[in-house]
Amino acid sequence: MIKIAIDGPGGAGKSTLAKAVAAKMGIVYVDTGALYRTIGYYVRQHDVAPDDTEGVIACLDDIRIEVKYEDGKQNVYLNGENPGDKIRTPEMSMYASKVSAIPKVRAFLLDTQRDIAKKNSVIMDGRDIGTVILPDADLKIFLTASEECRAKRRYDELIARGQNVRFEDVLAEMNQRDTQDSTRDVAPTAAADDAILLDNTDMTFEQTVDKVIELANNCK
Ligand code: DC
Repeated sequence: MIKIAIDGPGGAGKSTLAKAVAAKMGIVYVDTGALYRTIGYYVRQHDVAPDDTEGVIACLDDIRIEVKYEDGKQNVYLNGENPGDKIRTPEMSMYASKVSAIPKVRAFLLDTQRDIAKKNSVIMDGRDIGTVILPDADLKIFLTASEECRAKRRYDELIARGQNVRFEDVLAEMNQRDTQDSTRDVAPTAAADDAILLDNTDMTFEQTVDKVIELANNCK
């Protein structure tokens, strides 16, 4: 069993990287952002403001989250239904960022994340995986890249999904979210003391994947 934690700001390429490494190593990729997005989606559907702490906490009583791996893909079920790409919009990114600052939301999702890692070899990406969720991970990586590069990647990803967005808006939204995520009181985006910092601004995707696999093989 191996546990790999990948944390870092938005647009660093954590999910694409983690997905590729998982496929090459034959381990499970866990996208923890999808859990916060799913809570944000429920909150939005019920017309609760994402920064209405009491309102969001009240929603938790009616939320049942299940994570399933189907055809090698992670699906997060919300009360038995899979919202699919509806959690991937810029609006849901912002909802996820806001609800994730609420300690009870983080506590609500803690066991779900740890249970998956208990049962499987995983590469898990998020903001607090190395610091809070899997403090004993075998390998911790804090992945980053320049602001411009991260915004460009996020922009390309949204365009590829068919979303109609402007680069300036993506950059502004990304910066606002990163500030929120890294300055909140509970489990802010942070590199664990024993994390390896990996800046992939000038690295190709393949180089980044190879680097992580090399690091993973070294810690086996
Ligand atoms: O990785 P992502 O963009 O899908 O995450 C969406 C939001 O969820 C992000 O802005 C902050 C929050 N999040 C978090 O607080 N902790 C995690 N482990 C993963 C995501």
